[in-house]
Amino acid sequence: MTYYDKIIETAKFISDFYGEKIDYAVVLGSGISLELDNQKELSYADIPNFPGNNKSSHVKGHANKLTFGNVAGKTVMVLNGRLHYYEGHSMKDVAFMTYVVKFMNIKGLFITNACGAINTNYSEGDIVCLDDFISLVTDNPLIGANDDRLGQRFVDMTTPFNPKLVETLSKSAEELNITLHHGTYGFFMGPYFETRAEIQAFKTMGCDLVGMSTVPEVIAANHAQLPVAVLACATNMATGIQERKHDHEHVLKTAQKISGNLKQLLTKTLEKLD
Ligand code: HPA
Repeated sequence: MTYYDKIIETAKFISDFYGEKIDYAVVLGSGISLELDNQKELSYADIPNFPGNNKSSHVKGHANKLTFGNVAGKTVMVLNGRLHYYEGHSMKDVAFMTYVVKFMNIKGLFITNACGAINTNYSEGDIVCLDDFISLVTDNPLIGANDDRLGQRFVDMTTPFNPKLVETLSKSAEELNITLHHGTYGFFMGPYFETRAEIQAFKTMGCDLVGMSTVPEVIAANHAQLPVAVLACATNMATGIQERKHDHEHVLKTAQKISGNLKQLLTKTLEKLD
């Protein structure tokens, strides 16, 4: 079966499973949670063609299931956990569910992640709405033959993040009195945390944040013309900006603390959207 056929089959399977129209999708990063009203769930293991189901390695802090339910009068599908390139998945596997979201006729995708802050105007625990990204990885999901049914060969990236979604997030943050920064995300392959020298180099290049996810999904969303916005959670200051050494437990703990603000922000935003 082709990549495209798998996407269509999986989109139909999930749509039939839930049975109701879904307005928006949300991807949750490490340690981030979001409870929904009238929640229904579907384990990744039970989804046909779900990439990585034959691999046992899954990152701690990911529940690995879809949840469906209501937020602010909208129907939402939440992807609790994602695949990472550093786990050894191909870029096309990492991007697979983004295309599924598109072919379920979902109106927009909100992506969250845990990342390190390079910009010293940010503090640990801050949320940053991405305005742009720099890929520090020399692979992406569009490499190889293009399937025109998914999108065009050459993808414009003038506004990789949907202006209306970004503006609505900004307005909502203002109303809620939640600090929401805007910045550029550097996509680093990992899975080691960056060196001091790497962070200094990325800072010079213009990265405000650095993380090991999100960009493959954003590229696929732009390819498929699926509106996307990203809320990046600074779970720590980047290497050398903070003196303390990194550990994943700290990332999870800080992400958990941010979940409350993130839920408020997404709820208010969904309230404002069509
Ligand atoms: N670097 C890369 N990825 C991360 C970090 C970091 O400092 N924190 C959480 N994810």
